[in-house]
Amino acid sequence: MLYTPWEVKVTKVIEETPTIKTFVLKPERNFSFKTGQFVELTYPGKGEAPFTPSSDPNVKDEFEITIMNVGRVTSLFHKLSSGEKLGVRGPYGNGYPVDSFVNKEILIVGGGVGLAPLRSLIFTLFSRIEQFKKIVICYGARTPQDIVYKYQIESWLKFKNVHLRLTVDRGDENWRGNVGVVTTILNDLPLLTKQAVGVVCGPPIMMKFTTLRLLELGFLPENIYLSMEKNMSCGLGKCGHCRLGKYYVCKDGPVFRFADINEIEDIWD
Ligand SMILES: Cc1cc2nc3c(=O)[nH]c(=O)nc-3n(C[C@H](O)[C@H](O)[C@H](O)COP(=O)(O)OP(=O)(O)OC[C@H]3O[C@@H](n4cnc5c(N)ncnc54)[C@H](O)[C@@H]3O)c2cc1C
Ligand code: FES
Repeated sequence: MLYTPWEVKVTKVIEETPTIKTFVLKPERNFSFKTGQFVELTYPGKGEAPFTPSSDPNVKDEFEITIMNVGRVTSLFHKLSSGEKLGVRGPYGNGYPVDSFVNKEILIVGGGVGLAPLRSLIFTLFSRIEQFKKIVICYGARTPQDIVYKYQIESWLKFKNVHLRLTVDRGDENWRGNVGVVTTILNDLPLLTKQAVGVVCGPPIMMKFTTLRLLELGFLPENIYLSMEKNMSCGLGKCGHCRLGKYYVCKDGPVFRFADINEIEDIWD
């Protein structure tokens, strides 16, 4: 029963970038998730893969998943159009401990499709914005074409206590912003790093260098939250595929405080 997917209908497909699409999904039954939790999305008869919903958990009648096309199953999802049906099981995992961010300054650092789970966190923080001192969002993509959520990202500046910094690894003729990897926009952050919370999600190499930079800047290991990705199968803490030291990413994560995993070898692999 725990492994049995239930049905969702694709109601909209948004082309974010040449390799990333967002799927708006209507569940056949009540579904809610905590920001940062993940689901297993099934392509009927072909396979399944884990994804973290990128939408606002307060919206109950539909949810969104943003998927980068990297291989066998994700390429099948990328061929989907409105009206088609998929399976979902979950939500699984712990999610972001948003209540522990109250009255704090929060730095959010995303790389590539790693902004997907962070967008759901951003919506969650916005829904109770007066409880947080400041939110600084730093996002890096490979090129301007690879920036996700272009149609809404600037609107995140509607709150006085929200700051946004963007960068691309390689600019183009129209790009006027910063050029360089995401760590190049972490200088002179408008927050007190020793007390602030840092939330990081992106490719392993980006997470590694961002975490090292945050530590250099004075962030405490117990205040740095990482969304870890490991190959998964059951999603339920039973098969052992997603082992990270003494933890199972699917059950104990996917969100970990750096202080809890920094002794584990090869956490960035
Ligand atoms: C908790 C969690 C949340 C995730 N959220 C998102 C998301 O919101 N959006 C998104 O685009 N991707 C997300 N991913 C990654 C996504 O699950 C993989 O890209 C997907 O499983 C690849 O499947 P595939 O069959 O297309 O690739 P494959 O053909 O199997 O492999 C292609 C590449 O992806 C890697 N890979 C394969 N399976 C996984 C896996 N289960 N987890 C991580 N890497 C894998 C392989 O090592 C290989 O490098 C998440 C992963 C986890 C664990
Ligand atoms: S995916 Fe099976 S234990 Fe985590």
